[in-house]
Amino acid sequence: MVELTLPENSKLTVGKTWPAPLGSANTKCFKIYRYDPDGGSKPRIDSYYIDLDSCGPMVLDALIKIKNEIDSTLTFRRSCREGICGSCSMNIDGTNTLACLSSISEVKNEVKIYPLPHLPVIKDLIPDLTNFYNQHASIMPWLETKTSRPKKEWRQSIEDRKKLDGLYECVMCASCSTSCPSYWWNGDKYLGPAALLNAYRWIIDSRDQATTDRLDELEDPFKLYRCHTIMNCTKTCPKGLNPAKAIAEIKKLMVERKL
Ligand code: SF4
Ligand code: FES
Repeated sequence: MVELTLPENSKLTVGKTWPAPLGSANTKCFKIYRYDPDGGSKPRIDSYYIDLDSCGPMVLDALIKIKNEIDSTLTFRRSCREGICGSCSMNIDGTNTLACLSSISEVKNEVKIYPLPHLPVIKDLIPDLTNFYNQHASIMPWLETKTSRPKKEWRQSIEDRKKLDGLYECVMCASCSTSCPSYWWNGDKYLGPAALLNAYRWIIDSRDQATTDRLDELEDPFKLYRCHTIMNCTKTCPKGLNPAKAIAEIKKLMVERKL
């Protein structure tokens, strides 16, 4: 019988507990994944009891409060705190989402926070997104033109501009790709929902002149066709986008161009 052993860094240990400040009446426990691959210790779950009466309403507020007032070693990404930069994506209460858009009050009981799943961890809640960004770069996320530059600007009709709605809003948070089992198993070859949604955004841009090249590039057993319409991507996207639909549209274009 095949014996499967888990890597050492997949085993969690019980970490430290920071109790609520004396006299606080409205407390909530945040259980947070802590791991420093350079430190040699196994990952642990630390428990922080926060006084909600002196904390902002979102999960990111609690993380910032912990870092500022309780434990400065806690590491996470954030910037805009309003769902625009995509930096604060993490797994909160079992769902990949943005911490700055997640209300603490929507989580019953303790708030469990992990890094985005199935990516190497750099430290604590920060995953290594190198492969994710390389895949994004591979779909040529820019306007590609072959004719000479117009005097003023590349123009687009209102109708054609509307086709980009639901696509251009992607903040590259990686919540969708890291919720996808196909991406977990084949993330080195399958581009994943985020890169494919962005690929479709440029494929259907009426000003772009590289549509054939873009589709040729995706005509591959792994890059596109490893999507099995599991739909986790669409379910989890914190911006309410629909990567699964974008992928289906690319597959449709692949069929149509062969007819
Ligand atoms: S499609 Fe949604 S979940 Fe995926 S990267 Fe873009 S904003 Fe994030
Ligand atoms: S901090 Fe920018 S999206 Fe959350």
